[in-house]
Amino acid sequence: MRPSDRGARRILIADDQASVLEALRLLLKGEGYQIETAGSPGAVLRALDQYEFNVVLIDLNYARDTTSGQEGLDLLSRIHAMDSTLAVVVMTAWGSVDLAVEAMRRGARDFVQKPWDNARLLTIISTQIELNCSLRKGERLEAETRLLRDEKRPVLIAQSPAMKPILQLIERVGPSDANVFITGEHGTGKGVVARALHAVSDRSPRALVTVNTGGLSEGVFESELFGHVKGAFTDAKTDRVGRFEMADGGTLFLDEIANVPLSQQAKLLRVLETGEFERVGSSKSIKLDVRIISATNADLNREAAAGRFRQDLLFRLNTIEIHLPPLRDRREDIAVLVRYFLGQLTQHYRKNIGGIDEAAMQLLLNHTWPGNIRELNHVIERAVLMAQNNIIRSVDLGLQPARIEARPLDEMSLEEVEIYLIRKTLTRFEGNASKAAEALGLSRSAFYRRLDKYRL
Ligand SMILES: Nc1ncnc2c1ncn2[C@@H]1O[C@H](COP(=O)(O)OP(=O)(O)OP(=O)(O)O)[C@@H](O)[C@H]1O
Ligand SMILES: [Mg+2]
Repeated sequence: MRPSDRGARRILIADDQASVLEALRLLLKGEGYQIETAGSPGAVLRALDQYEFNVVLIDLNYARDTTSGQEGLDLLSRIHAMDSTLAVVVMTAWGSVDLAVEAMRRGARDFVQKPWDNARLLTIISTQIELNCSLRKGERLEAETRLLRDEKRPVLIAQSPAMKPILQLIERVGPSDANVFITGEHGTGKGVVARALHAVSDRSPRALVTVNTGGLSEGVFESELFGHVKGAFTDAKTDRVGRFEMADGGTLFLDEIANVPLSQQAKLLRVLETGEFERVGSSKSIKLDVRIISATNADLNREAAAGRFRQDLLFRLNTIEIHLPPLRDRREDIAVLVRYFLGQLTQHYRKNIGGIDEAAMQLLLNHTWPGNIRELNHVIERAVLMAQNNIIRSVDLGLQPARIEARPLDEMSLEEVEIYLIRKTLTRFEGNASKAAEALGLSRSAFYRRLDKYRL
């Protein structure tokens, strides 16, 4: 049992610089808080074992001469794993915005940049203490249940004329068992449409099983989709159910379908034609009732013409095709999407932000959005984290003609160069990830891993 002190609010401060610890201790003690200090990640974990805290304020850099913040991020993850309701506020060096954003993604509640502003720091601490107290009363559980419920019916914002026919299609073909093939650039909402189609069908009480075929190596593709029996190959120690079987009675969403290797396309075709297949290593046929939704941002007709995708499989998949327009062709949706993401993200990060000012909105409306709605979502996320007041302003968006571009190449880190090249190439191919990957000499899955890594 950890001793807990109900009266006073206890704060743990961690930094490897004694002078910083002392300054913060004095500041916070003056406000009537009880303070413990720690000089290293190890000391933080020991203190957490000893006492109950309302807020933990940690620096992200410990080892000298490093600014990567990796030690701090690891510490944050460990604290979060120990007690996910504990409010952690991180301190970062001035200007290391990406680090602060990463920390928030890993569960930090807020961040302060060094050198800190006393008044702002105190506001953050007192807000977090208040939240921490109410959270422990179970509000968190409620919020999570709400989130889970939303998961079933995806929010699909589509008020622009360009999206009208798509809404009609979803309504019309959603309830049928027709195979639907969704195309559109990276980040246009193909995944959302797949979930919407499933949600409006009779199959919605059953599972929507997603397979990211783009992320599977050729070796595991077959057993992932069709399952295997014990002994089918060296690593097959037990029977395994594949995604097709999991989706029985429901919907199977084959994402990034263009990446299915030719050798597996024949097998997929047979399942689609007959509804039957065998687990790897078994001769017993299994018959299933699965509806197939597939998606890609490649031009499958072109892939088929080039002999990289089977034409007959394409015909099976695209009984109905839904093509999602890029965000730049549906600008009427931008303002609505912004308000929606703002609502979601301010709640998620527990920020008090009332809206966005005129100039910032204008920037958003004029941007070309090569990364489409996902990019817009990330821009708003960053803005919510960066906003100093309760309104989002242009500077918070980080949308000024990419700062990176103005710098000479030999001043950039390897990562920055990669990000720069990927952005440029995506813009050149109007967001078409397949073409961009090809131009950069990367496989599609390697390209996607990078998009994911840099959250582009
Ligand atoms: N119409 C929409 N309304 C609200 N949110 C949307 C809409 N479309 C997309 N989003 C959001 O934008 C993000 C990207 O959407 P999604 O993952 O479905 O895109 P995608 O086309 O599947 O991208 P990719 O080609 O990279 O797989 C998600 O966070 C999603 O929730
Ligand atoms: Mg997707």
